[in-house]
Amino acid sequence: MRMRPKKNRDKRMEKVEKLFIPLDENGCAVIDESYNVEGELFLEIGCGKGAFITGLSKQYPDNKLLAVELVPDVLMMAMEKADREEVNNVRFLNANAENIADIIPAGSVSRLYLNFSDPWPKKRNAKRRLTSPLFLERYKKILAPKGKIFFKTDNKGLFDYSLESFVNNGYSITDICFDLHADDVFSTDNIETEYEKNFSAKGFLINRLVAEIR
Ligand SMILES: C[S@@+](CC[C@H](N)C(=O)[O-])C[C@H]1O[C@@H](n2cnc3c(N)ncnc32)[C@H](O)[C@@H]1O
Repeated sequence: MRMRPKKNRDKRMEKVEKLFIPLDENGCAVIDESYNVEGELFLEIGCGKGAFITGLSKQYPDNKLLAVELVPDVLMMAMEKADREEVNNVRFLNANAENIADIIPAGSVSRLYLNFSDPWPKKRNAKRRLTSPLFLERYKKILAPKGKIFFKTDNKGLFDYSLESFVNNGYSITDICFDLHADDVFSTDNIETEYEKNFSAKGFLINRLVAEIR
């Protein structure tokens, strides 16, 4: 997501810095002490401007929610949204998902959300896709037993690639659908992301699946 640098960045960051997840001396996220709630940890990677994680926090007020985003100014907007909406169970992290297994405690994530991940359509960039084999190995380290990955995208090429990648890398797939908004079951508790609103308004169908380590 390309953006112009934000005005008053320092002041704006100061206002929301309480929402950053603290890291210990090894750069590992301090989870349990950082939340006022006891529930399991849900992680979103590539949270964009925060519509999904803020919506999720209202659906799951007793869970610990953590949103990771690569681009600092985008993350700041997500943090400002969470602050405005006064959700108290969401924390944020500015990081590249390549390092996720060093930052998030092993076996701690019961749900991992990947929403509208960048498709990186050229073959030479396939390694950067958040569902490439390298990433799926990283996720295995941080997922709790029976932990699940929830993946949705409008990009059919990325979806087909991801289906194959999950299956070929030790995951089983359930709850597949190729038109999420028309599905009576899966659409009921669906939380729309910024990209989802935009692309479904343009007529793109939303694909979704759930993956679990076999
Ligand atoms: C296409 S946008 C989707 C944003 C949001 N999930 C949505 O659905 O509206 C992808 C987001 O993932 C972030 N991203 C891409 N690669 C990443 C990585 N390796 N680590 C963390 N975030 C990443 C981008 O900066 C961008 O904000």
